[in-house]
Amino acid sequence: MTDDLAVLQAETETALADAADLRALEAVRVAVLGKSGRLTALLKALGAAAPEERRARGAALNLAKDAITAAIEARRAALEAAALDARLSAERLDPSLPPAPGPAGLIHPISRTIEEMAAIFGAMGFTVGEGLDVETDWFNFSALNIPAHHPARADHDTFYLPGTRDGRPLLLRTQTSDVQIISMLNQEPPLRVIAPGRTYRADHDATHSPMFHQCEGLVIDRAITLGHLKGCLIDFLRAFFGIASLPVRFRSSYFPFTEPSMEVDIGWNRRTGELGAGGDWLEILGSGMVHPRVLANCGLDPRVWQGFAFGMGIERVTMLKHGIADLRPFFEGDLRWLRHYGSSPLAPAMLHEGV
Ligand code: DAH
Repeated sequence: MTDDLAVLQAETETALADAADLRALEAVRVAVLGKSGRLTALLKALGAAAPEERRARGAALNLAKDAITAAIEARRAALEAAALDARLSAERLDPSLPPAPGPAGLIHPISRTIEEMAAIFGAMGFTVGEGLDVETDWFNFSALNIPAHHPARADHDTFYLPGTRDGRPLLLRTQTSDVQIISMLNQEPPLRVIAPGRTYRADHDATHSPMFHQCEGLVIDRAITLGHLKGCLIDFLRAFFGIASLPVRFRSSYFPFTEPSMEVDIGWNRRTGELGAGGDWLEILGSGMVHPRVLANCGLDPRVWQGFAFGMGIERVTMLKHGIADLRPFFEGDLRWLRHYGSSPLAPAMLHEGV
């Protein structure tokens, strides 16, 4: 190898060793092998050399070019590996570290109550069903024995929507009782279903929200009696409020879709708000034996199948259970309220631990 090539190669190797990153490496490559690089210039000069010199010089130049190219690629590989190492160690995740301190998510009281209801009724063999928020007036009213012009329709302050489905007017469902119809139409009895969900009425003050939640319940079987209804609801209410001796009273009432119908009250102290004592009564849910016409509307023979149904306001029982005085903050998303009344996602509602 000629002296000038040995110098060029040595200088290039030094420059490569000094190149700290891929950009510096590229600058070295361009300075030597680029269009006006030092080695490129020597190759171009070859044409002017005397023919006898050309072969030996050409071979030496090619050797130098190969050696320099190999050195550049080796340095490139080393720099890329170092860059990857640096990235990996910067991004390294240590799964053994404890969770970073900070605000943990909490379960909203409405969701918590729904979980608790599912746990209690689940232990009694109920499944959880669902309806649609946007429903037709047939599912929300007519099939439930509330025909057009029935005064109960006016009681509900219904939000009607434009358009129809199956030729029926659309509305935001005013009650979860539509899931009774959905369940009977879609499943073969016997049935045990609860259906927690959103409901809507044009009503807004400290105790009413235009969007609120109800939980419906439906049992259909052969030879179901009022005794089953009472036993089921007494067990539920005592488990839900965690008071084994909670007084429960069934009071005759009227709903179009049940016969007989009953309102259910629990014992409390009106003055202190304490539940389970005090000799006062508080209405908490509606219930009754499913009306034969409702069974027939769903294609069930009332001489074969009977059942009971019930419906309760989820906000109402949540407020009573936790001593919450105002309905509005349930839907305002105020973090201070949520931190106070929210519950831990790591302690889900489980019956055997006491919901
Ligand atoms: N849907 C009724 C309401 O919104 C509550 C209700 C009463 C549901 C009696 C029932 C029932 O299933 O049997 O006021």
